[in-house]
Amino acid sequence: MPALLQRRTPKDLRFSARRKSFDIKNALATDWHSDSAFITAWFNSMSLLFPLGEKFFIDSVAYFKDQVDDQQLATEIAAFRAQEAMHRIEHQKYNESLCSQRGYNLERFEKKLRQRMAWAQKKLTPRRRLAGTVASEHLTAIMAHDMLSRKDSITGANPAISELWIWHGIEETEHKAVAFDVYVAIGGTEFERRRALIVGTFFFFKDVMRNLIIILHTDRKLWSIREWFSGFKFLFVKPGVLRRVASDWLSFLRSDFHPWQIDNRDLIYKWEIDQKTSTKQPKTGH
Ligand SMILES: [Fe+2]
Ligand SMILES: [Fe+2]
Repeated sequence: MPALLQRRTPKDLRFSARRKSFDIKNALATDWHSDSAFITAWFNSMSLLFPLGEKFFIDSVAYFKDQVDDQQLATEIAAFRAQEAMHRIEHQKYNESLCSQRGYNLERFEKKLRQRMAWAQKKLTPRRRLAGTVASEHLTAIMAHDMLSRKDSITGANPAISELWIWHGIEETEHKAVAFDVYVAIGGTEFERRRALIVGTFFFFKDVMRNLIIILHTDRKLWSIREWFSGFKFLFVKPGVLRRVASDWLSFLRSDFHPWQIDNRDLIYKWEIDQKTSTKQPKTGH
């Protein structure tokens, strides 16, 4: 088995959790993205996976925290855990508000995922669970990069909800290599992480599509050709969010892959500057 290359996370990378809350309750009651039931449901479907998924990520990284000697990585693990914990809180609020206002059953979305997580906790080795986290973090990082760098996939969304997604995308970018670097540090294999990406991607889409179908069914839009056509266009044509991330997805399979081979720290810096200027200006709209 070839040894994995050493970590290449920028030495001066520093990040920590930001305390945030978003005034999104009223908007969640509506088709908040481009007045499209499908695109709204696409984002909502992902949000519904986050609180349980991110708990799994936190636990699988935390398991190895005492086996890491590198001081920078130890600090990053603590920041990773704090960021993901904050994401869980905000997405839990998001999901509860969404479900109560739109008549969705939250437990119906979470039950199968909770069972799978419990199964993984029992049956998989800690290293395999970490490989699953590394793969999932790759999925979130490439989708966050696409959203933050192109912006068109979030254009047309309610401003307050898009603010939440952008904040989440920024922090996913900041900590995108933490699980990966821990995996390297504990001697994870390339085979296991590649397999984890294939399996993880399969389950991610299975879960998102399941949630999306439940949502559209509840909204009585499941058989709307118009909705599926606009959804297909959004995902594969224009902006084509899934089409565009395909090559970044594949890069994970290379033996010399590292998340910071795409150095997109400029997106974080730009967002931070925007945050500072927007807090100085009076808020308008939502
Ligand atoms: Fe997150
Ligand atoms: Fe993450």
